[in-house]
Amino acid sequence: MKLAIVGAGHVGLISGACFAEVGHHVVCVDNDQEKIDKLQAGELTIHEPGLEEIVKRNVSDNRLSFTSDLAGGIAGAEAVFIVVGTPPLEDGRSDLTYIYEAAAAIGKALPSGYTVIATISTVPVGTSSEVEAIIKENLSSRDGAIEFDVASNPEFLREGAAVFDRLHPHRIVIGANSERAADVLNSVYEPYNAPIWIVDRETSELAKYACNAFLATKISFVNEIANICELVGANVEKITKIMGQDPRIGPDFLRAGIGYGGSCFPKDTRALDHIARTQGHNFALLKAVIEVNNVQRERFVEKMRRSVGSFNDKTIAILGLSFKPNTDDVRESPALRIIQILLDEGARVRAYDPVAAEKAVAVLGEQPKLKICASPYEAAEGADLLAIVTEWDEFKKLDLSTLRSAMKHPVIYDGRNIYSIEEIAEAGFEYYSVGRPIENKERTALLDRTVST
Ligand SMILES: NC(=O)c1ccc[n+]([C@@H]2O[C@H](COP(=O)([O-])OP(=O)(O)OC[C@H]3O[C@@H](n4cnc5c(N)ncnc54)[C@H](O)[C@@H]3O)[C@@H](O)[C@H]2O)c1
Repeated sequence: MKLAIVGAGHVGLISGACFAEVGHHVVCVDNDQEKIDKLQAGELTIHEPGLEEIVKRNVSDNRLSFTSDLAGGIAGAEAVFIVVGTPPLEDGRSDLTYIYEAAAAIGKALPSGYTVIATISTVPVGTSSEVEAIIKENLSSRDGAIEFDVASNPEFLREGAAVFDRLHPHRIVIGANSERAADVLNSVYEPYNAPIWIVDRETSELAKYACNAFLATKISFVNEIANICELVGANVEKITKIMGQDPRIGPDFLRAGIGYGGSCFPKDTRALDHIARTQGHNFALLKAVIEVNNVQRERFVEKMRRSVGSFNDKTIAILGLSFKPNTDDVRESPALRIIQILLDEGARVRAYDPVAAEKAVAVLGEQPKLKICASPYEAAEGADLLAIVTEWDEFKKLDLSTLRSAMKHPVIYDGRNIYSIEEIAEAGFEYYSVGRPIENKERTALLDRTVST
């Protein structure tokens, strides 16, 4: 089938490449000319495992192309997918400016014949109806009948494993208000061999928020259990394994740490809270999930602060800048927030990330006390404390004795629990992780010092 993607960002590019990979002919449209120039030149704009290979293959097989010309891009497409950003506004609401602009542009360019316009972006309930109205308003008077339907088609991929997820989805959700639209989208997704849910548009739109909010709830719940573990001397890692063996609970998303970040969970939880509020409903549980997540990061920083007395004039090494491993996405990354606190309080920060440094500097800006390093060992040089913020595999395989000898004081704050307590004790570090007991006397003293309030 001939398909068009409007918005060739993280999800749009991956969706377009994966549609092409299963045999569709796809044009990805973006109004960022620089992005399109790069993609046309064969340069990837994001880091995502497996993406480069499928983009190259499908471009060379003429199934995938890129353009900034929306009218040309959507001409002849049976389905047009809107995959533009829906960033959060101050009050938690999703900013739908890009969705509305894309809908208007599609309306102006829609050719005669029948087209399904499906929104992949995560959008509040009711957005499909608004998109439909905007397209209608913008249909220019051209020869021939222009027919269209608007559908909701949320995406559930995980950044860092997005290509795999996009090619092997657990389920496809299609929110349609006509059989004709449902049939077209059903054909688009037939090659995936996944269960397809065809529901009304409101159910589809809300299902996406429900999934992300539930996953965020699991994370905040486990982090609260971890906090209690620290107070009573229990081990959250063992507890979550015990929990995960219960099929009613399941093993996924039960890792304690410094909380969720990224461009989806923080935004989508706040947006769902806003949706509930606008309907006069107090979603108390979700509010608590958000609050726990915010506090979890601050707790981690507070423990580090107490460990070094004050950050002023201290050298802090930070391992990990992306919000999770295997991506260079730094949107709402806990690392950036932590680094800014450290810099504001007078620390010198030496940071390392395998792929996200450039995007992190673009957000943080050049700052005199921030040094981006070429390796974890360089980041550790002269450090009073080293914090692990993102669980890149590379950090699990470090030579701990080299790391230790590079540091001024061998103190590690591990926000992702990547080391075993035994391994790190043997290597001679003072080590603090999340929700796991510190057994010997020296470490008990550290625990007392860092978790006394
Ligand atoms: N990132 C994720 O893991 C993920 C997963 C599932 C769903 N989503 C949702 O998908 C949507 C897109 O997220 P993203 O991370 O890909 O965003 P992004 O910012 O990486 O990409 C959006 C792209 O849309 C382009 N764009 C904006 N307006 C346009 C227009 N009028 N015409 C053409 N192009 C336009 C931008 O230039 C940009 O390249 C969001 O609603 C997000 O919540 C994201």
